[in-house]
Amino acid sequence: MPKLSEIIRSTPKAELHIHVEGSLEPEMMFELARRNGVSLPYRSAAEVRRAYSFGNLQEFLDLYYEGMNVLWTEEDFFELADAYLRRAAADNVVHVEMFFDPQAHTGRGVPPGTLMDGLDRAIVRSRARGVSVSLILCFLRHLTEREAFETLEAAEPYGGRLLGVGLDSSEVGHPPSKFARVFDAARGMGLRLVAHAGEEGPPEYVWEALDVLGVERIDHGNRALEDDALVARLRDDRIPLTVCPLSNLALRVVEGLAAHPIKRMLDLGLLATVNSDDPAYFGGYINENFRRVADAVGLSPEEIETLARNSLEAAFTGNSNVISSINS
Ligand code: ADE
Ligand code: ZN
Repeated sequence: MPKLSEIIRSTPKAELHIHVEGSLEPEMMFELARRNGVSLPYRSAAEVRRAYSFGNLQEFLDLYYEGMNVLWTEEDFFELADAYLRRAAADNVVHVEMFFDPQAHTGRGVPPGTLMDGLDRAIVRSRARGVSVSLILCFLRHLTEREAFETLEAAEPYGGRLLGVGLDSSEVGHPPSKFARVFDAARGMGLRLVAHAGEEGPPEYVWEALDVLGVERIDHGNRALEDDALVARLRDDRIPLTVCPLSNLALRVVEGLAAHPIKRMLDLGLLATVNSDDPAYFGGYINENFRRVADAVGLSPEEIETLARNSLEAAFTGNSNVISSINS
């Protein structure tokens, strides 16, 4: 039997929960800051990394939004996405459904076309290398419903480049129902629907994401395990959970990786997947997430393969050749 790390490396997988802005490595942050004349409150990449110690989601988000202030030009967005997609390919990711946060850029004065064209160029390159990529536009839930509607309107000219919409940022105090009408409009545009829920927020937010927004996948979903009826719903409807072990560790959603619920999710029959969330901030890309959580909770080779297969099943679109060869 090959070693677990070799199974993780060689198993084809999809990544369904990656914020492209969360793949901004400190070295690139410095390079873009220099190029764009942005001053950073740090002297070195090492100092940035030392600042990456978070007590909760909000402490991370404060640095995440600060970090992306270096992104201004089409070339910046291209380089950011291209670097991530190359790393994903090296981890044997065959398909990516990539989140981006347009409001964090348009709010600073970056035109929507600048970021859309930069991301698109990286996506075209990735497809040529054999890794399919789709984009999911996330609304920032700490902003208003009106601002979400304005963002959806501004995205209309690029609708053909979008797979779906999602919901991210500060969860507690911003329940999914706040965005019910925006998600209805997105559904009307033919977009697929996902939402972060149950990361810090209660099980009720996961119920709302399913029943009020009508999402097809839950991002994180850890706190769903507190509610047996919700677990039954997720299992019976095969609603995927995009779980992010190193993010959960860094943001103290779990007390330690040994306490991570990924194995329990599989034992409960849930369609759980492993993802990196914001790999530059949480210390690892997708395979590192697999390796660290597998070590910590003792995943078997079969469980690794199940998680990878789940990611291909949970994908909305994908690399159909690879997916059919895996499932045959
Ligand atoms: N934006 C980027 N990463 C996020 C996370 N883990 N939760 C909520 N919003 C985010
Ligand atoms: Zn996320």
